[in-house]
Amino acid sequence: MNQPGMIETGRKDRIVGLYSQAHNLAIGGDYAQALEFYDKIIADVPRLIFETPRINYERALCLKALGRIEQAEQAIRSCLSVRPDDPESLRLLSNIQSIKGRHGETRPRAEVQAVKIGTEKVEEMRREWNYLSSKSRLGFISHLQDGEVWDDLEFHLTGIRFVERMMERFEEYGRVEPSRASILEVGCGVGRMAKPLACRFRHVFGVDISANMVEVSREYCSSLPNVVFSVNDGFSLGEFSDSSFEYCVTAGVFQHITDLNVIMNYIREAIRILKPEGIFLFQFEGNRENAVGHGTCGARITAKVLDAALKDRAYRIREVSIDPADPVRNVVIVLQKTFPGEPTTETERSFQLFRMSERRWLSGVYDDIKTKTRCHRRFKEPQKRLTFYDCE
Ligand SMILES: C[S@@+](CC[C@H](N)C(=O)[O-])C[C@H]1O[C@@H](n2cnc3c(N)ncnc32)[C@H](O)[C@@H]1O
Repeated sequence: MNQPGMIETGRKDRIVGLYSQAHNLAIGGDYAQALEFYDKIIADVPRLIFETPRINYERALCLKALGRIEQAEQAIRSCLSVRPDDPESLRLLSNIQSIKGRHGETRPRAEVQAVKIGTEKVEEMRREWNYLSSKSRLGFISHLQDGEVWDDLEFHLTGIRFVERMMERFEEYGRVEPSRASILEVGCGVGRMAKPLACRFRHVFGVDISANMVEVSREYCSSLPNVVFSVNDGFSLGEFSDSSFEYCVTAGVFQHITDLNVIMNYIREAIRILKPEGIFLFQFEGNRENAVGHGTCGARITAKVLDAALKDRAYRIREVSIDPADPVRNVVIVLQKTFPGEPTTETERSFQLFRMSERRWLSGVYDDIKTKTRCHRRFKEPQKRLTFYDCE
């Protein structure tokens, strides 16, 4: 028997169903349809508008995205009348008010800077990686020391371990259960990460600049029905539409990209192809001295450059971390795409302000691996200086 004031079980299931449809439509950017579902919920149980700030918040975001600013404000105020301290609602209200302050005009879209990407540089990278992969099937994934050949099982194990580290973060920050989600991997190489990712995610897509690498990936993952690989243009994710993935990842790649514009373009592209609330994890070596890379040694990425490159994008930073035991100072960054116009604080968006934490990434991956990789040698080297926060 239901208690007085409680929603009876059948009706509750219906509302949960409506909410999940509304939420998925909002995430997919279909705000008008999503709004219909939020409104159905509220018509059914009007008091939910007061009791469930999340429903009301998402409804207000849809209204705002559709340019219905007055109604968005009304919605957010009804929530605040009952929960005056709800931080998400307070931020949204102040954002709506700042829009209204500009006489009801909607915020002009920031000029999207045309990215200058030298095709010569990209083609040079493609030649380099095609050449390296033709010399040795797995040898240039986690470079081997001279004369070494990867033990296939050990190779697979390093992929599993990196994916464990990714999953820790996806589970912490993501909203969609990986087994129901799609993930895109940029710079998939021969499928070392894609294979274990395919055991966790519903669909895995991998792109790489090198056709040779993609060919090996297809062979390496041939037993898996849920993985698709393709060769890309080396700087964009143009074959994927906006808001189509829940997760995106790239590891072991940016430290090799010599052109900083290409790296920044990939980060912007990753945000574009993610659904709101989707997660992008990327890693790079934070010890680089030169702004321009050479050969397979990537350009230096700094917090200042990231701030400038992403200033007009919809995201919040969830993690900037470094593994204290890692001599090459790999930096792992996790971003979450926000809904269009969703308010964020300066600290959530600024790489220069966001607090760096310590978290494992490289340590433990190669410790008991017998095949000698360059990582083994690097671990004996002294700690390199972290240049990520350099300002010049
Ligand atoms: C060291 S491998 C790492 C592969 C994979 N992420 C892993 O860790 O197993 C670097 C990969 O990045 C790819 N790559 C390099 N530059 C690229 C670019 N501009 N666009 C896409 N892929 C690129 C290379 O072809 C290569 O497969």
